[in-house]
Amino acid sequence: MIVSGPALSQTDTLLALDRVVKTFGRHRAVDGVSLEVRRGEFLTLLGPSGCGKTTILRMVAGFEHPDSGTIAIEGRPIQGVPPYRRPIGLVFQNLALFPHLTVGENIAFGLRVRRRPPDEIGRAVDEALALVELQGYGERRVHELSGGQRQRVALARALVIRPAVMLLDEPLGALDLKLRRQLQLELKQIQQRTGTTFIFVTHDQEEAITMSDRIAVMNGGRVEQIDTADRVYNRPATEFVATFVGDTNLLSGRVSGTAAGQATISVPALGRDVPAPAGELRAGQAARLSIRPENIRIADAASPWRMDAVVQDVVYAGAAHRYTVDAGEMRLLVSTPANPGTAPFLAGQRIALTWAAADVALLAAPGN
Ligand SMILES: Nc1ncnc2c1ncn2[C@@H]1O[C@H](COP(=O)(O)OP(=O)(O)O)[C@@H](O)[C@H]1O
Ligand SMILES: [Mg+2]
Repeated sequence: MIVSGPALSQTDTLLALDRVVKTFGRHRAVDGVSLEVRRGEFLTLLGPSGCGKTTILRMVAGFEHPDSGTIAIEGRPIQGVPPYRRPIGLVFQNLALFPHLTVGENIAFGLRVRRRPPDEIGRAVDEALALVELQGYGERRVHELSGGQRQRVALARALVIRPAVMLLDEPLGALDLKLRRQLQLELKQIQQRTGTTFIFVTHDQEEAITMSDRIAVMNGGRVEQIDTADRVYNRPATEFVATFVGDTNLLSGRVSGTAAGQATISVPALGRDVPAPAGELRAGQAARLSIRPENIRIADAASPWRMDAVVQDVVYAGAAHRYTVDAGEMRLLVSTPANPGTAPFLAGQRIALTWAAADVALLAAPGN
């Protein structure tokens, strides 16, 4: 059995990528990625199709090799270690179960290859079946299982060797939404119960937010931000992160002043100054802001500042009213809680908007 063994380093970094580059032909699929995966965490690589997620997993698994940069597990570079000697469990969309083997034989496979004694294999398979809630399914054939059950068997088969790291490449991608939501929860529970480090790949921001301890948001072969779900959503570092993860309003302007941790940004498209956190900003500097629709509020008499707007459109979306409004030359998205008994504002109505400086995210200038 491959186990992670006694602690070889004092840090809690289990897997580290350092400036990893991978080129296919003239295309840089992975363009200098550095990231550290902590022991026991659920880390998600989130990004659009083609941004390099699968290529990163394939390099960690040993199916592809970086052109430059290093990948280390427990502080030791794993270059040259063949895939089957790496302490890694794989659940890939295209890594099918063996159709001619039973469920139990599928799960036992990794232990048979490692020549574990039969009684140990039997116990481990039973444990793994229990872990994925498929007790009693050991004798079934793969074709007798539903899609969700097959993914659970794939998970059990990967976990049974007690890998140091599990790599999961869009494992729920082929399932319908309801089953997908259920398996998201189960997968997260299994990860927590076993304490296994998971690197999970998805292009679905909601899936990433519900499951992850941390999210690495990728774009064009690079990691744009690696942070908790909460910070990725509320403190996006770049325009790409702000727009890929949820809806937002982007404002461009110039700092007209700073005081007491707050900046005033003159936004030409709004024809006015608006508040934002000061961050590192200095007067005169260009600034790019992201403000979420739910952080823009309807102003009242107590609001420290207000901005006139005209409702263009309103959509009732369950718990919220989602407005499109015109303010200056901009079109903004605004979302307000739909309290029972409160009628929404209607198209053509004039309203006043406000927001708190602390609810605005300052974005890195493009190109940085
Ligand atoms: N074996 C390969 N040969 C050529 N190009 C590849 C190969 N694998 C991946 N690519 C390209 O590298 C980029 C990243 O691919 P991939 O890592 O699969 O992205 P993702 O998993 O994020 O969708 C894509 O442009 C893809 O077409
Ligand atoms: Mg992929």
